[in-house]
Amino acid sequence: MLRNGLCGEFTEEDIGKETTLAGWVSNRRDLGGLLFIDLRDRSGVIQLLFTPDDEGLHERAGNLSREDVIQVKGTVIERGEKNVNPDLKTGLIELDVDELTVLNETKDLPFSPTDGLETNENTRLKYRYLDLRRGEMRDNFRLRHRTFKVIRDYFDEEGFWEVETPILTKSTPEGARDFLVPSRLHHGKFYALPQSPQLFKQLFMVSGFDRYIQIVKCFRDEDLRADRQPEFTQLDLEMSFVEEEDIISVIEGMVARVFDRVLGEELDLPLPQMEYSEAMDRYGSDRPDLRFGLELVDASEIVRDSDFNIFSGTVESGGVVKGIALEGGSSYNRSQLDALEDYAKREGAKGLLWASVEDGLLEGPFTAHLEDETNRGLVEEFGAADGDVIFLVADDRNSANSVLGALRLKLAEDNDLIPDQGWEFTWVRHFPLFGKDGNGGITSEHHPFTSPTEDGMNKLEEEPLAVKSRAYDLVLNGIELGGGSIRIHRRELQKRIFNVLGISHDEAERKFGFFLNALNYGAPPHGGIALGLDRFVMLLAGEESIRDVIAFPKTGMAQSPLTGAPMEVSQNQLDELGIDVRD
Ligand code: AMO
Repeated sequence: MLRNGLCGEFTEEDIGKETTLAGWVSNRRDLGGLLFIDLRDRSGVIQLLFTPDDEGLHERAGNLSREDVIQVKGTVIERGEKNVNPDLKTGLIELDVDELTVLNETKDLPFSPTDGLETNENTRLKYRYLDLRRGEMRDNFRLRHRTFKVIRDYFDEEGFWEVETPILTKSTPEGARDFLVPSRLHHGKFYALPQSPQLFKQLFMVSGFDRYIQIVKCFRDEDLRADRQPEFTQLDLEMSFVEEEDIISVIEGMVARVFDRVLGEELDLPLPQMEYSEAMDRYGSDRPDLRFGLELVDASEIVRDSDFNIFSGTVESGGVVKGIALEGGSSYNRSQLDALEDYAKREGAKGLLWASVEDGLLEGPFTAHLEDETNRGLVEEFGAADGDVIFLVADDRNSANSVLGALRLKLAEDNDLIPDQGWEFTWVRHFPLFGKDGNGGITSEHHPFTSPTEDGMNKLEEEPLAVKSRAYDLVLNGIELGGGSIRIHRRELQKRIFNVLGISHDEAERKFGFFLNALNYGAPPHGGIALGLDRFVMLLAGEESIRDVIAFPKTGMAQSPLTGAPMEVSQNQLDELGIDVRD
């Protein structure tokens, strides 16, 4: 080895020790003859001291540049009182250097890792290896490693096997767009990269593997945002002979283990649970952020008989009048309120009504149309007080919930109501089995292998949108960590579901025939879940984007500034694949 210690691990107990260290020049300070250099490796930094006694050594150290790679030999000594840094593990000591070897010089840097976030993200991604030298990044990837290790150990103890599934495969049913890989041997045919190992893990249950996990890359060609990447990592799990509670409890055990071993925090189990319908009604979201209040209030009954037609008419025709009260919101001025209305409209609202509470009554552009009784009733229903503002929408239930769900988050962010600290988990259970697909048809809310609840079985054909599923999501601080379900394990039921979805026998055979076949040969009752590990690590690390916990992420345009991918390929390669590229 070129060294016999790690920079960040020395303390005052090592005073007097001789050691050889190697690493990067992180910082340099020249204090009238005394030269200090921070030497950095993965473990942290140690201060190097070069005194003018050895002129040659001192001069060579003076010529070092940031990020040069060096090896030094010296003695650990106590720092002078003025130089003590109590924030640093090595802050009481320094290395008095008597030998210096330059292992590699560094050219002009595009940016210095110690400048951190002053550099724009594209440049940081282009030179990601430099960006990864930052202390915050090193901490994130250590945490990512620790989390994966704890997860694997936990599942090993619980009797799970980690088995890999194919990457070159066939379209999988998660509902996003596929990444396709053209086949050289079969022109015109394509592999799809897996959006998840869903069908393979179900096949493992048919194989009798009983308990499967995999930490696995998944690929989805969808619009990117802070918590979405085209390739991301799932903790994928499937179990046989289980019901919802079994999956929920094994996942809770894992999460609690990670909190304990990685963060040193105790988590109270079991985690809270909520019905999907309650999440939508109270928070306007299937991934409710429970770190703050601002709950949605249903005022439909209060305004049902009002003379104000927007309200009574909506309720009469089966819609709802719902809203949110914001404490102290009357400090909003007119243009801020107009901006909020524009925001609500962009989120799909027909309009946003607002009124502030003055002397116990609502006062706003529409309140002249309200009877005193209705007005007072609204104030009471919202539990509002003078100085508060109430925002209202009148619409069908789903639209009202979704607009108010978005508005709730915006109001919380704008008013700084979201605490930085704390963990608010919830399971969301019994999602609808189907939803509208936007073209007059219906589609699976989760994926078509999700089981309906027992009492939904006889409504499948007549009232499909009213059928609930045996699906569950795990939500943390308003972010969907994962989702799963108890699956369909009988072929007849699977066929009925395809029927309801309007998937013909031929189409089902073509897409999923291999899987449907397996249901004929002794598929046990089974269920599972997948957690987005990038999102999990992002939350544990206190980051706001999964890009900060993925070593080589893509930009919002799905490009890699580092490698330049995606790229054109040679004509030769296209010819071999039988592909013509159109402009
Ligand atoms: P689902 O599609 O809900 O379920 O995905 C599971 C979890 O994976 C994470 N995730 C993502 N993370 C980053 N970037 C993305 N583009 C992305 N897409 C999804 C989320 C999500 O909750 N096969 C089913 C699971 C099952 O039924 O067992 C599935 O993949 O955290």
